[in-house]
Order: sequence, then C-alpha cells, then structure tokens
Amino acid sequence: MPGGGNRNYKNPCENSWFHLFAIHIFPFCVSINTARNKQGFSVFNERLGDNVPQSTAGIRKRLFKGIKMDFIDLKFQQKRIKGKIDANIQKVLAHGQYVMGPEIEQLESTLAAYVGVKHAVGCASGTDALLMALIAMDIGPGDAVFTSPFTFIATAEVISLLGATPVFVDIAPGTFNINTDKLERAIQAVKSNNPSIHPLPSAQGKLIPKCIIPVDLFGLPADYDAIGAIAQKHGLGVIEDAAQSFGAEYNGRKACSFGRIGCTSFFPAKPLGCYGDGGMCFTHDDRLAETLRSLRVHGQGPHKYENVRIGINGRLDTLQAAILLAKFEIFSEEIEFRQKGAGNYESLMGGNPSVMVPHIPPGYKSAWAQYSILATSESNRTALMDDLNMAGIPTAIYYPKPLHLQTAFKGLSYTFGDFPVSEDCASRIFSLPMHPYLDKEDQKKIVRFLEK
Ligand SMILES: Cc1ncc(COP(=O)(O)O)c(C=O)c1O
Repeated sequence: MPGGGNRNYKNPCENSWFHLFAIHIFPFCVSINTARNKQGFSVFNERLGDNVPQSTAGIRKRLFKGIKMDFIDLKFQQKRIKGKIDANIQKVLAHGQYVMGPEIEQLESTLAAYVGVKHAVGCASGTDALLMALIAMDIGPGDAVFTSPFTFIATAEVISLLGATPVFVDIAPGTFNINTDKLERAIQAVKSNNPSIHPLPSAQGKLIPKCIIPVDLFGLPADYDAIGAIAQKHGLGVIEDAAQSFGAEYNGRKACSFGRIGCTSFFPAKPLGCYGDGGMCFTHDDRLAETLRSLRVHGQGPHKYENVRIGINGRLDTLQAAILLAKFEIFSEEIEFRQKGAGNYESLMGGNPSVMVPHIPPGYKSAWAQYSILATSESNRTALMDDLNMAGIPTAIYYPKPLHLQTAFKGLSYTFGDFPVSEDCASRIFSLPMHPYLDKEDQKKIVRFLEK
C-alpha cells in the first residue's frame, strides 16, 4: 500500500453528542438534488494547523464541530495532508514548469504501476480521456459504439462529437452496469440492421459495430469477462469508462486495466480527485499510448511544431498532478475506509423494505464513488429525500434522466420504454453521503430517516 496514512485510523466521532445536536437541534436544510453537484461541499469553521494528527478519534470530533454533514467531505482529507499538498504546490511554483512539468510523468508512472498497465497518459479531464481514446481507436462517422444510457452525459457525448453513433444497451438491475445479454443482442441488431431484436437509433443508415464503452457506475467495475468475450467474438474494441471507479477491482485486477484503453476522471468528487479538472488514459498498447500522447498536444509529432494528426489541447496541469501525487499517498487507505462506510450502510439498512442497497457481486471491489440506493417508488424517493434534506443530510440523484431521453440525443429517436431498467432506476434511485471519512454515528442517523 502506498505511503502516508495511518492504518489504525478509526472513523471517529462515534457516540459524539455533537452530531445529535447538529442534526436534531440545528437542522440545516441542504439539498444537492442536482444530477452532478460540482459544489456544495461544506466549509470548515475550525481553525486548525497543518499538522493534524491523523490517528486520534478526538481530532475528528473537533474537526466536525460547527459544520453540517457533507455529501462528499473533501475538507477533512485536505486537513490530513495539507502540508504535503502545500509542499508539492510550492515545488511547482519554484520550478515553474506549469505545463507538462516533471510531476506529470511522475504521476503517470505511479498510477500506471498502481493500475498494473504499461502506460498512463494524463489529460485535462475524464471527458478528454474518453474523446482521445475514441480518436486513437479511429472511431468516426458510420461507427456504432455500444454503451449504457444510465451514466453521465460525457460517456456518450464524445461518441456523438466524433460523428459516430451511440447505441444504448440497458443496464442490469442489481449492478447498474451494462447488461451483457442485451449487449450481445444489440450487436446482432446493428449487424442485421434489425431493431426488432433490440432498440436501435433510427435513421442512422447501416452502422458498423466498432467499440463498447462499459461504464463502471458508482465505482463498481462492469462484467469484463462477459464483455471481453463478446468484444472478441465480434472484433470490437473496449474503452473502459472508469471515471468513477479508480481504485476498484475485479478478480484482483484494478479498474482502468480492463479495456484496450481505460479512462478515468480526477474531478474533485471522484475517488481520486484533484482541485479542478483532470483525467488519465491507461493502456498496455505502445502504439495507442504514443497516439494518446500526441493527441493531447494538438496531434504533435516528434517535434513541437510538427503536427501529424488532428488533436486537442488536452494536457493535465502540472499543479493538478502535484496535488494528485500528495493525495495518492493516502488513496489506498481511503479506499479501505470507503469499504467500511459502505459495509456500515449495508448492515444498518439490512431488512429495511423501503430501500434496496447496492449489490456487489463476488470477486468485485467497488471504489464507492457514490452510495446509491433504490426507493420503492418515485414518490417514496421524494419523501425519503425530503426528510433527509430537512434534517441537513445532503442527497443527490445520479441520474434522474437516462441518456436516451435527453434532448441532446433526440436525433437518435429513442423513446420512453426502450430501456426500462434504466428508466425505472432513474425514477427511484438516490445517493447518500459517501466519502472515506464517514462517521458511523452519522450513518446511523441517516439510516434512521430511511426507516419510514
Ligand atoms: C461515468 C463518467 N464518465 C465520464 C465523466 C467525465 O469526467 P470529467 O468530468 O472529468 O470530464 C464522468 C464525470 O462525472 C463520469 O461520471
């Protein structure tokens, strides 16, 4: 496990009178009912030094004093490693290589080793990582790219940006990830241009199946054994959308290692997040890695002003790489804290008929980017979320509208009913606070609001 954190760290604040006080006497109405909350992280009211001891439960109690509950707590993490973050930032300011400075290569080799792939290519966002991956795999007009409609817009947006066509495939009910039986049918439908086998985008002419983008939703890897077999059978490429799953595992392999290219995001709320936008592509393939490195700098060739392909300005900032290097030192420990938090939720909610907790199949480890549960109905979700939000417990809906029903994709002419599992989940799903520093007492309170 890489450096830094204290393995004996206990999620503290247990039995803290303060939380009872904060929740029941000063209810703070916080609602983060946006599909993608970019802000909303609470502010620390305490003045604390940089040398916060990381091992005592008491420090956590003091840190919590006077703040509301967070949906994702980034402040506590910052306090833990502020000294290291500041030092890394200062190093960048001192050497002045703000673009493609030495921290980029350092981060790339560190994360490539962690994921277990040969190459890592930093870039400006998870969206750019997906875009560059598709360009590197020569995806363009007339190509069908199979993906889930139950994801963030970026997954499918990049397909359309390149003139290719997203062919949506419904999700499996338990995991929220692409249903591999339906994936097989969708490929057959495209090959035979027969929408009676599987819903297809209309008026696209004959499409050529080229690529699958499975999404590791909420941090849980997709079923890569089945997907790999289908891809091989039909000669398709796989690009793993691991924007939410950095740190996750499947059968002992790390997320980002499953496709020909794995793409992740360092958006602040992600399991490994920077302080702005950032992303990374991972691949075993030397040629693809070289193409990705060229694409992120305007299709640069061997010399700075020689351009060998059309690319983008998609570099990761040196400052973000420096911040990520500091955060990565406690990342493995944080992934374990997330397992504990998720385990607490599951045991606390066991047997509650009002909600369905996430299903993690054997062999999988989620990065728990989100802890998303299903209410029994849309009205039940509204009631539960209202209660939680009235008590100062933030919640969010990922995602309220599946992509096939988004206006942005109306040109594909999908209709309601095409992907019933995604539609049903969109109407009942909501997410509870999830981050490495969840306090079990807080979780107990959250769960009590769900027992209605
Ligand atoms: C599944 C998924 N794919 C892609 C992205 C895009 O990542 P970024 O916001 O870094 O561009 C996100 C980010 O929210 C995501 O959740």
